[in-house]
Amino acid sequence: MKSQYQSQYQESIGNPAQFWEEQATALEWFEFPKTILSTKVGGHHDWFEDGQLNMSYLCLDKHINEGRGNTVALLYDSPVTNTKISYTYLQLREEVSMFAGAMHDLGIEKGDTVVIYMPMIPQAVMAMLACARMGVIHSVVFGGFAPHELAIRIDDAKPKAIITASYGMEFDKKIPYKPLVDDAIQKSIHQPNHVILFQREGLAATMQKPRDLDMQELIDKQLFLAPVSVAANHPLYILYTSGTTGKPKGIVRDTGGYAVALKYSMSTVYQVEAGDVFWAASDVGWVVGHSYIVYGPLLQGCTTILYEGKPIKTPNPGAFWRMIEEYKVKVMFTAPTAIRAIKKEDPDGNYFKQFSFEHFSTLFLAGERCDPATYHWVKDLLQKPVIDHWWQTESGWPMLGIMLGLEHAEPIAGSAGKPIVGFDVQILAEDGTHLNANEEGIVAVKLPLPPGCLMTLWQNDQWYIDSYLSQYPGYYLTGDGGKKDENGYFYIMGRIDDVINVSGHRLSTGEMEEIIAQHPAVAECAVVGIADELRGQRPMGFVVTKDGQTITEPELEDALIQLIRDQIGAVAYFRNAVLVKRLPKTRSGKILRKTMRMITDGLAYTVPSTIDDPQILVEITERLAERKLGNAFL
Ligand code: COA
Ligand code: AMP
Repeated sequence: MKSQYQSQYQESIGNPAQFWEEQATALEWFEFPKTILSTKVGGHHDWFEDGQLNMSYLCLDKHINEGRGNTVALLYDSPVTNTKISYTYLQLREEVSMFAGAMHDLGIEKGDTVVIYMPMIPQAVMAMLACARMGVIHSVVFGGFAPHELAIRIDDAKPKAIITASYGMEFDKKIPYKPLVDDAIQKSIHQPNHVILFQREGLAATMQKPRDLDMQELIDKQLFLAPVSVAANHPLYILYTSGTTGKPKGIVRDTGGYAVALKYSMSTVYQVEAGDVFWAASDVGWVVGHSYIVYGPLLQGCTTILYEGKPIKTPNPGAFWRMIEEYKVKVMFTAPTAIRAIKKEDPDGNYFKQFSFEHFSTLFLAGERCDPATYHWVKDLLQKPVIDHWWQTESGWPMLGIMLGLEHAEPIAGSAGKPIVGFDVQILAEDGTHLNANEEGIVAVKLPLPPGCLMTLWQNDQWYIDSYLSQYPGYYLTGDGGKKDENGYFYIMGRIDDVINVSGHRLSTGEMEEIIAQHPAVAECAVVGIADELRGQRPMGFVVTKDGQTITEPELEDALIQLIRDQIGAVAYFRNAVLVKRLPKTRSGKILRKTMRMITDGLAYTVPSTIDDPQILVEITERLAERKLGNAFL
């Protein structure tokens, strides 16, 4: 007999329009769509385009109308400021609708864009939901990004306003945000009309009147706003993510398809229902934060948690376990890096043993590959299912995983599971032909993508088509490499482009190269992602200086580290730049980054037949050994 998973999966692939039309009935639409799936120029698709709805209505008002107004919608726990606040659905809607009303009063309207650059405080969630209520397209920028990165996003999204706060916290360190925002606005060509700032207790920002406005004062005007009806394909948000160059990709998410997909995932992937406590320990600046701190759990009527802390040192490696006990968390979602950090500080689980896991059911991991050692450590500790699942900013929700709500399949350590309903995931060879089981190749998804995935890139449809759809017509190219075993389980082995994942943060080595190349002493450079025990990956730079340069290696390294910190942010974790005489290249001039990575990681490699001069590889090996850098030479 077929499992529910098998039958739903087959239906979703065989007859996607019918399958997703049925799932769409789980939402309360203002107008149910007549057109379910439509094909666009370039081979991509829109879902439910003539349906009408409002995301903030579905996340707030609907639950209140159904009598769940006094259920807790949002729990805010901040060990770094010793604050705990809870908001019921009624209270959250009040804040959201008042903030939306005030923004409307400022002339911000449906279809406008707003950038949100905020730490993990409830006002960040309120700002997102207020935009959704108005049909305003938000673009949340991760608070760890430097002004240069923020400026790039301001110039691309052209926001009418930037919403921010006076500071964020990194462990016990206050990071003032306002100077970063001011700097970014100075660096950008586009000038927003307003900066709306939430003054946090503990550090007030200097305001520049009349441009800068106090968020609380705006809310206190009590200009309530009802949800505005938008078409299903109206963009809910733009979320910039690292591509292979210094220009980040503005992923555009629709409203209707996203709502249908997230709602479906809450019960089938995460197995949570209204009233359950769901905690994604991510940041609102990442896709996980959008989908599973804010929209997914609230669509489902769950209690969601906003945690302004770290897995360790806030105050100790029991931080996550304390949260699970205190808030009766049923399902938690985090990155393997966080688990590795806890494991390093509490290898025997002594902190873990102090807490009760009575209400806890499942731990989900994503953001980077979960190595089997981390998987086993946390599974043995929890004695509960641990599910590694794979997705991207582009997909908006998981593409591989174990759908516990539909079948009781066993996870396999090192595997990201099986295709999620709706995703026809396939492994292709470079020439686009299909590979056999256990052969490693390019991970692609056969079109149409299910609802919830990116619609396009912000105001650049051609870039979307060129980056994702053109290489293998009929397929969406994920940028990951991997394989599938004979039982249909997939193994994601890592990116096949210039994207790396540092502590679960997606970054571009191509962008780092562009920044390093700005240094006057640098002739050329290559940045590769090497293995890091805690962070999964970290960048390592190789630099060739211009002839006649007298700068020493330590001086140049310090300057480049500072350059990356200033332009991308400390999160890039760029710590090493190695001076080399030349970079290894093919005869046609392509830098052999993969070979450099293999050498640095101490992995066996074959000298590429296309290499211009194999002696360069020997020189690089010697330099790394001399500096005791890279995993091969520690
Ligand atoms: N704002 C400003 N700075 C930030 C930041 C933020 N939001 N996030 C990180 N940084 C800074 C850190 O303070 C650090 O700065 P430093 O070099 O001056 O010390 C730097 O960026 C590197 O940070 P990180 O790589 O996070 O290392 P860490 O030692 O501070 O913390 C972990 C290590 C494992 C605790 C942390 O990386 C972590 O919690 N990772 C999980 C991340 C996650 O959940 N990702 C999932 C996304 S889905
Ligand atoms: P992001 O867009 O920031 O979510 O990063 C997406 C990338 O992270 C993917 O393309 C993968 O390279 C990686 N990734 C995310 N989840 C997993 C996972 N479970 N296993 C392996 N890689 C993952």
